[in-house]
Amino acid sequence: MNHSDQILSHGRILRYEFHERLTHWIAAGSYIYLMLTGLAFYSPWCFWIAALLGGGQVSRMLHPWAGLIFTGAILKMFSMWSAQMYPTGADKAWWDSIGHYIRNEDDQMPAAGRYNAGQKLLFWGFIICGVLLLLSGAILWFPEYVPWNLRFLRYLAVLIHPSAALLTIGLFLIHIYMSVFAERGAFGSIIRGDVSLAFAKRYHPGWYEEITGQPASPKK
Ligand code: HEM
Repeated sequence: MNHSDQILSHGRILRYEFHERLTHWIAAGSYIYLMLTGLAFYSPWCFWIAALLGGGQVSRMLHPWAGLIFTGAILKMFSMWSAQMYPTGADKAWWDSIGHYIRNEDDQMPAAGRYNAGQKLLFWGFIICGVLLLLSGAILWFPEYVPWNLRFLRYLAVLIHPSAALLTIGLFLIHIYMSVFAERGAFGSIIRGDVSLAFAKRYHPGWYEEITGQPASPKK
């Protein structure tokens, strides 16, 4: 899409097209189901979740299928967004200024593009863990097809699957906090698709400049 088409008639900027939002919500919905049923299998303390979701057997049967839906969604995310997620020199400067970010001193931060370095980390974290979860999950789903002389793969899968899942839970909690509570306007962007000019200028000045051709407010 042309940058000029991204500036909407009512003075807002299109951040996510419909297919991006749909993919995101398929990933989110399947992930939440996977996380809840996965926690139920992980610890007896959490088994009550499986009971709420139709029982242990139903959860065990649907969990791997939800995993395939999640994998499909993150592969689509990879094809849509990976080109914008590679680290740049500006990202290093962004991490070096993380203290300002934590203190909400956005005007002191180096200009982020469409995604800041934290969002890029989240993206790659989900992609890498997604691949690990798929590979280890396939072994746990069909252990009978793993040849006996390669049985160490089963032990590896038992270790990797929950470790990668716990890592994504950490990423997920940070993602919810940042995108729903910390950055006002972000949640609307993944529902309706657009953000205000003020949001773009404050959180993604490099992207604002790219889309509008106008300088974002000068840094102090
Ligand atoms: C209820 C759960 C979720 C909510 C409320 C949520 C919310 C959001 C919001 C508001 C954005 C837009 C942020 C921005 O552009 O400034 C976003 C982007 C994104 N979401 Fe989610 N999300 C959820 C679950 C997930 C899950 C499970 C994944 C894992 C695949 C995910 C991956 C991403 C990615 C990669 C982006 C783009 C980069 C970023 O903004 O961090 N989200 N999400």
